[in-house]
Amino acid sequence: MSKQFAVIGNPIEQSRSPELHHAFAAKTGIDLNYSKRLAPLDGFEANIQEFFAHGGIGMNVTVPFKEQAFAQCQVLSERAKIAKAVNTLWMKNGILHGDNTDGQGLVDAIRALNWPLENTNILIIGAGGATRGVIYPLAQAGAKKIVIANRTLARAEQLVADLQDAVAQLELQAISLEHLAGEFDLVINATSASLSGDALLLPEALQFNYAYEMAYGKPSSFLDQAKARAVPTSEGFGMLVGQALESFSIWNGIKPDLKDFL
Ligand code: ATR
Repeated sequence: MSKQFAVIGNPIEQSRSPELHHAFAAKTGIDLNYSKRLAPLDGFEANIQEFFAHGGIGMNVTVPFKEQAFAQCQVLSERAKIAKAVNTLWMKNGILHGDNTDGQGLVDAIRALNWPLENTNILIIGAGGATRGVIYPLAQAGAKKIVIANRTLARAEQLVADLQDAVAQLELQAISLEHLAGEFDLVINATSASLSGDALLLPEALQFNYAYEMAYGKPSSFLDQAKARAVPTSEGFGMLVGQALESFSIWNGIKPDLKDFL
């Protein structure tokens, strides 16, 4: 029988994980079936128990269950502990294991673009779960300084206070979105602004060489402004493929090349 995998969320119809994992399977010759599972908002735990009780190998977790998945796991990777969120589950000897591959997905996507990360000065706009998940992997990839700009300054300050010890070699700073200024190698939009159709204003006093929008498939005023400045830009499809590949590699012990799936 094929190895069984799934992605769980609510809603789940929009997920592209099954097509990605089937493409990785075709590339590597692994016989697997990857399905979508819609769990009721109060039914996450029962759903994953049932999946693993029936021989499921691994699950991806998406909105709104990543924090619940984190709370359920008995063994967690370092990066999942820091992200306080889990997007990758597997069962080993009856023990639920969790990891978070989102940040490595972003790092791999940026590397596939041949953009620099080593010794860089990075601005991340937004201070929610998406930002929390990428700081540690960006630090591991060699970022020198990360400034977190958020509409609600206190939230960015809290993130810096929470994460500074885990990334001691990295300079972390919180600023208010109203005071966006300075020179950066890379700016990353980790807000949900484009998902809700809101505009973000990038002032002239803000200079940058590369711009990455984490969301994808929606009009983004962030990307429009970056393109108007003629800097290289990219949106979140590479990150989506990257996180999926990292999960695939955890479960199957083989990691195909990201560039083959962009
Ligand atoms: P996620 O888990 O995707 O990061 P989240 O935790 O809801 O989602 O965080 C959303 C982020 O987008 C926050 O940083 C939020 O800013 P606030 O902390 O001030 O709420 C940011 N955000 C959402 N809409 C925005 C907008 N229109 N302009 C600026 N920032 C916005």
